[in-house]
Amino acid sequence: MYSSSIFDTFSPQEPQRAPIGVFDSGVGGLTVLRQIYQQLPNESIIYVGDTARLPYGIRSQTEILQFVREILHWMQQQRVKMAIMACNTSSALALDIVRQEFNFPILGVILPGARAAVQQGQRIGVIATPATAQSNAYRQAILEIQSNVQVWQVSCPEFVPLIEQNRIHDPYTMEIAKTYLEPLIQKEIDTLVYGCTHYPLLSPILRSLLPQQVQLIDPAVHVAAACSQELDLLGIKNTHPPLPTRFAVSGCSQQFTQSSLQWLGYTPMVEQVCFADTVLS
Ligand code: DGL
Repeated sequence: MYSSSIFDTFSPQEPQRAPIGVFDSGVGGLTVLRQIYQQLPNESIIYVGDTARLPYGIRSQTEILQFVREILHWMQQQRVKMAIMACNTSSALALDIVRQEFNFPILGVILPGARAAVQQGQRIGVIATPATAQSNAYRQAILEIQSNVQVWQVSCPEFVPLIEQNRIHDPYTMEIAKTYLEPLIQKEIDTLVYGCTHYPLLSPILRSLLPQQVQLIDPAVHVAAACSQELDLLGIKNTHPPLPTRFAVSGCSQQFTQSSLQWLGYTPMVEQVCFADTVLS
């Protein structure tokens, strides 16, 4: 499908050297980036954070589609060889539609997360943004793979703003986390899926509130593995040393530099880009 067009798009001699585009509304996608660093250390990455328009999780499908198309169009201009939607909300509301519109492969986080969840448990809780929870994308994906499990989805509208404001250790965050997890604990879940890429950043808090036997599933781990497989399949895995990661955000670049430092362990160079300026063909 896309495997032939990929070679027409960029660096015809060495397509494996082209970067992978990774995007999220903000710092959540860094959980995916960290997994890519671990599992695919030779890949060059362009990371996009659409920080001027977050949170995505309270947006309509029309808005998400528009934002995702703009970002992917910009990534196309940067000649990426593959894109990863490091964002569950975009994966739930836009992936199936936009996948056909671009000539490079686009991976989402929901299917890899759902596959991992059914391998772990039978009583599966999913915490997600309001848009992802309402879309039912996780329930559908999980039940399509395994129909005899139970799935409960909880919408957690306050988490992303709290994480983006760096209020992870604020007592209020603990209180709100208790409220969100309570109905899932009542259902005696054995597995909890982070249905938003921001949420692994809350893992110390969530872990402390959950019974010990509950397994946590981070789809970031599994999308990085899926990406590795796809690169092998297409013969475009990079074997050369990677370029430094390029960071592009739509909001304040300094703010992103400051907030991402703790998750990356280094100070990123961040540029500001207006994705809405990209001309849609
Ligand atoms: N981190 C994204 C997700 O996985 C987006 C969160 C948001 O902006 O609401 O859904």
